[in-house]
Amino acid sequence: MSPQPQSAVGRPLSRVDGRLKVTGRADYAADHDIDGVVYAVMVDSSVGRGRITGLDTRAALAQRGVLGVISHLNAPRLPYLENRGSNNPPGTRLRVFQDSRVRFFGQPVAVAVATTLEAAQHAASLVEVTYDAAPPVTELAAGRPDPPQTYSRGDADAALRDAEVRLELTYRTARNHHNAMEPHATIARWQGDRLTVWEKTQWVVGGTQAELAAVFGIPQEAVRVISPFLGGAFGSGLRTWPHVTVAALAARVTGRPVKLVLSRRQQYFGTGFRPAYVYRVDVGSDRRGRLTATRHDIRAETSSYETFTESVMPPGQMLYSTPNVRQAYSTVPLDVNTPIWMRGPGFATAAFALECAMDELAHEVGVDPIELRLRNEPAADESSGLPFSTRRLRECYRVGAREFGWQRRNPVPAATRDGDWLVGTGMAAAVYHAAAPPAQARVRLRADGTALVEAATSDMGPGTYTSMRQVAADALGLTMRTVDFRLGDSLMPPTPPHGGSMTMAAVGSAVLDGSNRMRDQAIALAVGDPRSPLHGADPADVVVRNGRLRLRDDPGRGETYAQLLSRNGRDVLEVLGSWVPQQEPFSMSAYGAVFAEVAVDARLGFVRVRRMLGVYDAGRIVNPKLADSQALGGMVGGIGAALLEHTVTDPRDGRIVNANLADYLVPVNADIPALRAVYLHGEDPHVDPLGVKGLAELVLVGVAPAVANAVFNATGRRVRDFPITADALL
Ligand code: MOS
Repeated sequence: MSPQPQSAVGRPLSRVDGRLKVTGRADYAADHDIDGVVYAVMVDSSVGRGRITGLDTRAALAQRGVLGVISHLNAPRLPYLENRGSNNPPGTRLRVFQDSRVRFFGQPVAVAVATTLEAAQHAASLVEVTYDAAPPVTELAAGRPDPPQTYSRGDADAALRDAEVRLELTYRTARNHHNAMEPHATIARWQGDRLTVWEKTQWVVGGTQAELAAVFGIPQEAVRVISPFLGGAFGSGLRTWPHVTVAALAARVTGRPVKLVLSRRQQYFGTGFRPAYVYRVDVGSDRRGRLTATRHDIRAETSSYETFTESVMPPGQMLYSTPNVRQAYSTVPLDVNTPIWMRGPGFATAAFALECAMDELAHEVGVDPIELRLRNEPAADESSGLPFSTRRLRECYRVGAREFGWQRRNPVPAATRDGDWLVGTGMAAAVYHAAAPPAQARVRLRADGTALVEAATSDMGPGTYTSMRQVAADALGLTMRTVDFRLGDSLMPPTPPHGGSMTMAAVGSAVLDGSNRMRDQAIALAVGDPRSPLHGADPADVVVRNGRLRLRDDPGRGETYAQLLSRNGRDVLEVLGSWVPQQEPFSMSAYGAVFAEVAVDARLGFVRVRRMLGVYDAGRIVNPKLADSQALGGMVGGIGAALLEHTVTDPRDGRIVNANLADYLVPVNADIPALRAVYLHGEDPHVDPLGVKGLAELVLVGVAPAVANAVFNATGRRVRDFPITADALL
């Protein structure tokens, strides 16, 4: 990656911001201390569809400390300009307080603003809203599908007709919510026509800043977004949700800075979710398990006002060699709020179906599940015809089988007992596309020889502060202590969304470029400076170690950055690094293999995961300790999706009945056994200059089907509905 020696990249360093976080000094969105701040609490619709017929705010306004109640009756009209740069799905955005229509249960219908949180909460509870309500449609099976997106190669219908082995399988996945620890929160302040928001966001510039500019019809530069820390997000921060507009609107109307924090309950209808799916797949193969055809009928929920789609089709096109493939993917508009990407988006949902289907086929033809996958390993990406940049899935299987002890597995279902427990093992493959959109980073080398690197990205938990410092430290020839990295401010250079496993690849490449160019600039300054010990040297012979420029082969000849800058009267050198991907003629994805052992209580149906192993081909691993945090967290999320997580909606009124962390089950420590992640060493030379393919999404993909396949091996029961609950196994 650079002619510099590597000493930080690749090391399992602890988070540089870890101490700030565990001592409570990291400022999350709601923690910022803003002078004169007042509090906003939203009133949410208690019907799932209809019209507001009356809204009585008199009792609320009579309370001490209440500054106002804003609703469609008195809110200023907002321009809501088209915003093509954002993550908004096609359709019409929910325009807050612009009309009397109710599109889903829990839609914000008013906001109370007061000088204390308690007064605002009380005032919100006193707003009386009456509705003309209609029965909502909130179940996937009850909705009318939109025209599908389709894909086809070969003749899947004919090949299925002629297949020696044919399976027709329907899988259902539940709606899931992100449930990050930190609630979504916004503080909004207007100064004249300039708006500042302290916000929980995964996309500072192209997302929140651009969206607020569009909503209020002001220049993008008039909006400043500050978001230095996120307490998790998993995708829920990839859009600018209505409550952000509500906070800015409340601040504009009251003339005060306004803080709005969603309650845990409000997260469930205020910030998106992983949509529920019905995924039918028909599989045709020969008797040896070589696929001849697959046909996919995919349905997913979306809202009535926007069409949210995600990458659920690619795995069925390129993970296994299949001559004949036909796919149809339809969204089904329902009276719900709009879904959003959630960790491993699309690919994880496809894996639920496809990786279980492969296990069912393996059982049907009597072939080991790994052997079956090896027999269907493609030579190139059959959806594009492109060669793979790197694809080390075979190695993932081999290393995983060895480390997990796969050869000890009894392939006969329901044949292994441990007291009251039925024990089984299962595996699944994982794939997630590697992407690295354009990004920029500013590098400043200061007179004291330290550097500051900045980019307007976010850190929802992967350790961006640490990994970016590692890249910059090596390229600049500085230590982890002498380079700082800052993020989360729209005044910094723009970056893509902090999601889709793109941050290390995209922002990392911009940081690398800026740091390399800064080092080269300093070297050029030194070799051209008659007073420098390096004067006249070939720049290619100069390296920087611990902030000291020196000849590679004559370490005694050199000087420090600080000496160079101060002698030249320079307070700072500044470089804007950038990354723009080239059109590489390769199919680029990260791969993995997940192995699970479960025990199922033979009488009660409870599933306990006993151990899990993930083996990943994710390119270069910049920090193995941070990577482990990602991988183990992804496994926990996948175990949740497999066994616990399920947002339940009351079909009568569209109310989410388990909108809290007592009733919506997420895994807790007692649910999680020994987890282990293994990374195949190496880098992908085509994806980006760092050679990273991205890890954070990949590590959730394949987890749930590995668990489901292990449950089948343990019990002989094939459950095709996620989550797999005890009642399905009784
Ligand atoms: Mo990830 S679902 O792009 O936060």
